[in-house]
Amino acid sequence: MESQTADLAAARLQAESVGIRSARRHIFLCCDQTKPKCCDRERSVVAWEYLKRRLGELGLSDAGGVLRTRADCLRVCEAGPVAVVYPEGAWYARCDPPVLERIIQQHLIGGRPVDDALITVRPLS
Ligand code: FES
Repeated sequence: MESQTADLAAARLQAESVGIRSARRHIFLCCDQTKPKCCDRERSVVAWEYLKRRLGELGLSDAGGVLRTRADCLRVCEAGPVAVVYPEGAWYARCDPPVLERIIQQHLIGGRPVDDALITVRPLS
């Protein structure tokens, strides 16, 4: 019981340090897949490294308001790298660095989805 309490305290500290309490948006990117279907694994890793670097450079990581998560597969499995941004539920295709930069600037910062890169939109309520 004591170790469970310690685990929970550690998890709360970690949640604080990754910026969960100040998050405005969360982007999930299909990356480093066990079974690459939407794009080559190498291409997805390049996309992830770009996303991670740019969010850091722009001060959006940690307490900067944007959470990021690598997903093994987002189940769309076409036209990848596939990404989804919440809370809007904006699903994006071909998220290579040029598209990711537009998503960062226009959606993650500006709040407006990038229409021509959208697969579909479905906010969760
Ligand atoms: S492998 Fe990328 S969405 Fe399924």
